[in-house]
Amino acid sequence: MSNQLLKGKKGIIFGALDEKSIAWKTALACHAQGAEIVLSNAPIALRMGEINKLSEQINAPVIGADVTNMDDLKNLFTESMKHFGGGIDFILHSIGMSLNLRKGKSYTELDYGFNQKTFDISAMSLHRVLRTAWDMDALNEWGSVVALSYIAAQRVFPDYNEMADAKALLESVTRSFGYHYGVKKKVRINTISQSPTRTTAGSGVKGFDGFVNYAEKMSPLGNASGEDCANYCVTLFSDMTKMVTMQNLFHDGGFSFTGVTQAVIEQMEK
Ligand SMILES: NC(=O)c1ccc[n+]([C@@H]2O[C@H](COP(=O)([O-])OP(=O)(O)OC[C@H]3O[C@@H](n4cnc5c(N)ncnc54)[C@H](O)[C@@H]3O)[C@@H](O)[C@H]2O)c1
Repeated sequence: MSNQLLKGKKGIIFGALDEKSIAWKTALACHAQGAEIVLSNAPIALRMGEINKLSEQINAPVIGADVTNMDDLKNLFTESMKHFGGGIDFILHSIGMSLNLRKGKSYTELDYGFNQKTFDISAMSLHRVLRTAWDMDALNEWGSVVALSYIAAQRVFPDYNEMADAKALLESVTRSFGYHYGVKKKVRINTISQSPTRTTAGSGVKGFDGFVNYAEKMSPLGNASGEDCANYCVTLFSDMTKMVTMQNLFHDGGFSFTGVTQAVIEQMEK
């Protein structure tokens, strides 16, 4: 059901790789709520071509940008503002990549070159996006920026590896830039800390299925799906949440505040 919560709003959505992507589902949800959208992803992801399906479905142009490249980001914002005929109301940063995880390196044997790249793609890219918008004065007053995080930023999930540190940095950039952009232009910046979700990035984590099942049993409401996350993003982009900023918002069916559940106790007693 659409309440047209985002009618008249214009946004950039980063990170729709395929139908499983949280960004893909968010783009659909924002479109259904009346928003106009520009889609962006890394040039290598665009070559897969999947994103063109989404582009047609929601009538949104695709503009490539590697989020570690400031020229790409400047071009993205320039072209997006041309397309919209003005400023931008919301941004979804739905980007993550761990080179050490990909190369099978454990946390105790990190390659620091890979590690820097991981931080740049997964965390400092939020700073780069915000800095580009800031320099170009691209975001409208009361604009809203959301990035996606995971509870490994606060608690240890050993196989999440260096991504835990990347998410901690991402959440810190959210607070720090959230202060400056709030004062300058009433722009709000938050992270959503999402349940484990079966996507390309998610499935790259070792033992992911066990992870998902454990979280399901440890959450009073069960795991939050990608669609649920998309709907939460819509609320954060809408004017109904205008005073929420610099927060890490758990969207995990209650997992983050649950010590143990009956389901886990029963499992342990087997
Ligand atoms: N899936 C989960 O379990 C889960 C849980 C919590 C948080 N998250 C976070 O949600 C976000 C989206 O991930 P997803 O699960 O939808 O997976 P996904 O693989 O569909 O999305 C990750 C995206 O990052 C993009 N990307 C990678 N390098 C890039 C670069 N240099 N420039 C631009 N884009 C680049 C990829 O092309 C891809 O579209 C990530 O930040 C992820 O860490 C995922």
